[in-house]
Amino acid sequence: MAGQIPVTPVRERLIAPSVLSADPLNIAGDVEKINGLYDFLHVDVMDGNFVPNISYGPSLVSALRKRYPETVLDVHLMVETPGNFIESFASSGATYLTVHVEASSHLNRLLSEIRKLGCKPGITLNPSTPLWMIQPVLHLVDMVLVMSVNPGFGGQRFLPETLDKVTTLCQWRVSSGHEYLIEIDGGISEKNIQKVAAAGADVLVMGNAVFSSEEPEQQLREMRELLKEENLYERQG
Ligand code: DX5
Ligand code: ZN
Repeated sequence: MAGQIPVTPVRERLIAPSVLSADPLNIAGDVEKINGLYDFLHVDVMDGNFVPNISYGPSLVSALRKRYPETVLDVHLMVETPGNFIESFASSGATYLTVHVEASSHLNRLLSEIRKLGCKPGITLNPSTPLWMIQPVLHLVDMVLVMSVNPGFGGQRFLPETLDKVTTLCQWRVSSGHEYLIEIDGGISEKNIQKVAAAGADVLVMGNAVFSSEEPEQQLREMRELLKEENLYERQG
């Protein structure tokens, strides 16, 4: 289309439900309900230091891996010392292992170690962290996760100012030739999913919007429809 350039290579958007919003007494049942309807399963790991909340450890990842050998387990480490945990999450069966730039002082080494352990490395940043902080390591990652809420809890309000980071990452990807996926996490729902996709996000994490729904299966189908309708082109300049 004249005057319009894609913000990202046109590809199907991926949906990653976050088990943080599943019923803690029935995680297996909630995940089973949506089996076959998601692309990645997002697992939020919180240590009570990096974020003011505590969630899961490697045992949940192991249990999910055992039950779902083929599932892409997208593990988001919100921990103060990620280097202490990468081995245990890798051996538990994480597919993607994403660490926060704010928590890691030797990122090149950490991301390379994650890859050596057999996982796909990801880097993420909080809403108030500028994008240039992660630019030096973009050649080392398979995923960039843009936080669209301050991490720690599900069900928070989406911060629209974070969308510019998504679009900039798309542009950097084109100009650098790097192949990372762009994921966005926090406050995504049927209300903003099209806008977020239009900004260029490849992977949409959704906790509350999926698991707090009366019918998570139906909710996921509707999200897919909304994504299909989405026009993946954005006018620029
Ligand atoms: C926030 C987590 C998110 C959270 C998203 O700290 O990283 O993955 O589960 O939940 P919603 O979609 O409810 O904002
Ligand atoms: Zn997350």
